[in-house]
Formats: sequence, structure tokens, C-alpha cells
Amino acid sequence: MESFYIKGGKKLNGEVEVSTSKNALLPILAGSIMCNGTVVLKNCSFYSDVNNMISILNSLGAGTKIENRDLIIQSDLASSYYINEEFTKKVRSSIFMLGPLLSRFKMAKVAYPGGCNIGTRPIDLHIKGLKALNVKIEEKHGYIYCDGRNMKAGIVHLDFPSVGATENLMMASVFLNGTTTIYNAAKEPEIKDLQNFLNAMGAKVYGAGTGTITVFGVDKLTSAEYCAIPDRIVAGTYLIATCMVGGNVKLTNCVAEHNMALILKLKQAGAKIKTSKNNIEIKISKRPKSISKIETQPYPGFPTDLQSQILTLQTISDGTSVIIENLFETRFKIFTELKKMGADISLHDRMAIVNGVEMLSGANVVAPDLRGGVGLVIAGLQADGYTTVNDIYHIDRGYYCLEDDLQKLGAEIKRIKQN
Ligand code: UD1
Repeated sequence: MESFYIKGGKKLNGEVEVSTSKNALLPILAGSIMCNGTVVLKNCSFYSDVNNMISILNSLGAGTKIENRDLIIQSDLASSYYINEEFTKKVRSSIFMLGPLLSRFKMAKVAYPGGCNIGTRPIDLHIKGLKALNVKIEEKHGYIYCDGRNMKAGIVHLDFPSVGATENLMMASVFLNGTTTIYNAAKEPEIKDLQNFLNAMGAKVYGAGTGTITVFGVDKLTSAEYCAIPDRIVAGTYLIATCMVGGNVKLTNCVAEHNMALILKLKQAGAKIKTSKNNIEIKISKRPKSISKIETQPYPGFPTDLQSQILTLQTISDGTSVIIENLFETRFKIFTELKKMGADISLHDRMAIVNGVEMLSGANVVAPDLRGGVGLVIAGLQADGYTTVNDIYHIDRGYYCLEDDLQKLGAEIKRIKQN
């Protein structure tokens, strides 16, 4: 078991490059199985979720190799449409494989997905959407059996703009004869990135980034080279970390537009933020002011994946803050760990009320999930004394070289092995 050992109190200064987006790479990796050739993913970031997704591709027969920072996927070798529980319990995004497998093999057998423990995370929207495309689905013995031999292009209306369901349905409809329209689609930048990737292979997908996505069926997808967008959640995490301890940090390889909801909040907290084409620079020297209300929403609203980090920032901000979590019902799990560090938080169902204290105190804490885990790392950077964050395998799912990046910025953090 590995942990992060952090000595708090150092300001963050310097420049760091943001990794390519986990949430863009996962559906792109799933979609690569539809390619009748080779996919090269440039500057791929090997988060543990990405590595697990690569193992899934290998289990289906696809060849993969890493050259420098690029991942090469030989998809034409894939021969299986069956993903067992050993793989799906490690990465929830295995559910994204339903659409691509149906496109490629007209059949899919996928064990129920695992992933971050942040709520019930149903998959009813994926199933309902696929049924609207005439896929026959049976759920039994822990598996989802899909028969897509009579799949038809059509209209899907999502009851909620689910990111994963939108991506799954885009990929399920790529080869369907005619036009498929997805209404109430999610608008996240990762959806647009998936559209760009699919189109780089020869698909005809339009409208991603708006609530309506149209897919015109094509016969095949061919080899392509693609680079996923920068990770807006990693970028956001580093911006919040800087606010937490003060300093002057420049992020390179990032898209400010993808982080506007956060940037506006951090400006309210007193940070000076400058943005240019691929960079964001943040400067803050005083204790941050509390942000009165933060409510998570689908994009372009405030992202749920930055809620734990901004909650952590509020624990040391000057004043009182209310945080409302609208997407995942159990995403306040760091509450008890932050309290161990001296935070003044009360929880009321999906709402947290935080009264900022001047300084947290170092403690031995446990990462409850991916974003909660990184929230605790940020807390440790500010806290008095030493903090140990345990169970960091959660954090490794979505942060690649976190300690290297933070060390580069001046933080005292190291990875240690615990027995
Ligand atoms: C994706 C992101 C995740 C992020 C989330 C919301 C990836 C790999 N993961 O997850 O990091 O936190 O978007 O921005 O991109 N829902 C249903 N039925 C379904 C599907 C979803 O009720 O079939 C509900 C969920 O329980 C949740 C909400 O819809 O309350 C949003 O989920 P969704 O957008 O699907 O998130 P994911 O794709 O799982």
C-alpha cells in the first residue's frame, strides 16, 4: 500500500505541464476498438485508469505498445466482445465499451462496471439509449448481454445529459445506416474531443458541445493519429492547490475556456488569474476569501470532479461557504478526514456548510475516492506539520505524476510504501 507523506506550509511557484485528459482518453481508448487499422494516441498520460483500459483492449485481442509518450493501438487484431469482471471492477469506464463493441462485433458481453465509490452510479441511461437503437439487452448473472444484430439508426432522448451515456451512444451509432440523433446530450469538452477523434478516423459526428449530436453512419473507420485535450480537472486541481497555499504558478498545455466556472470562483477568492492560448497563470499572496456558494452542475457549470478540492479550499478561506453537490450523492466522503485535520464543516444531505479556519493541522488520513483523495493532498500542503494520505491508489486513477508536479512547484511531498 502506498501513501503520500506531506510536510505542509510551502508556497507553490513555477511552471508545470498539464497531462492529457483521463476522461477524454478513456472513451477514446474504447472507441479505438472500432478502427480497422492502427490508432496512435500522442502524448498519452498513463493514469492507472488508462492502464486498466489498455488491459481491457489487450484482453479483447488488440495489440498495444508505448513509444516515447505515444500509445499505439493495433485495433484490427481485436477478436473478442467479452469483458469479464476482473477488468470491469477496476475501471467504471469499461461501460463505454458497450457502444464500440456493438459497432465492431454487433454483440457485447460486459460485466457490471466498478470504479469510484461516489454513489449508486446507475447505467439505466446507457441501456435505455442502446435499446432505442434496437439493441436487445439482457442483464443477468452480473453481466450485460447486448445483441446488436438488428441495430438501427434512430432518435435517442436522454432523460439527463449523462457524459458516459452520450459517449457510448455516439460510438454505438457510428456504423449505423442512416442518421442517429442524440437529444439532451452532455456538453462536456471530452464529448467534443471524442467527436474529433472519431472523425479523425473517418466518422461523421456533428454537434458535440451542444445538446444535440448527429451521427451519419459510415462503413468503416481507418487508422488515425490523435492527441487528447489537456485534463481540465488536473489543471483545476493545481489552480486550487495554489490558492490553498499561495504562490505564483503557470500551467502550460491547458485550455482556460474549459475551466471558466472554476476561474471565476477563484477570482472571487482573491486570486489574480491570467489566461492565454495554452496557459493559465495564477497568483495569490493573501489568505483566500470564502466563496459564498458553489453548486456542481453538468458542463459548463461547476464540475463535480473539482468539488472535493474546492471544498478543501473553503476549509481555510476567510468566511463561510455553502457547497451543494448535485451529481453524486456520496461525494462528501472527505468530510470526516478533513475534520480530523481541524476543518469546521457540517453536512446536510447534499449540502456542506464550511466555516474557514486559518490553518489545518497535519494528520493521518485515508483517501476515500479519487477526487476526495487529491483534496486531502491539497489539505496536507496547507496544514501545520505532517500529513499522511493513505490509499492513494484512488488518486493514481486520475493523476499522473502528481508528486513530481507538486515537487516541481516547491511542495514537500513524497510517495512512501506502507506495510
Ligand atoms: C463522467 C466522468 C466523471 C464525472 C462525471 C460527471 C468519465 C470517465 N467520468 O462520469 O469523472 O464526475 O462524468 O461530470 O468521463 N446517471 C444515471 N444513469 C445513467 C448514467 C448516469 O442516473 O445511466 C446519473 C449518475 O448517477 C450521476 C449523473 O447521471 O448522478 C451524471 O453521471 P454521468 O454524466 O453519466 O457521469 P459518468 O459518465 O459516469
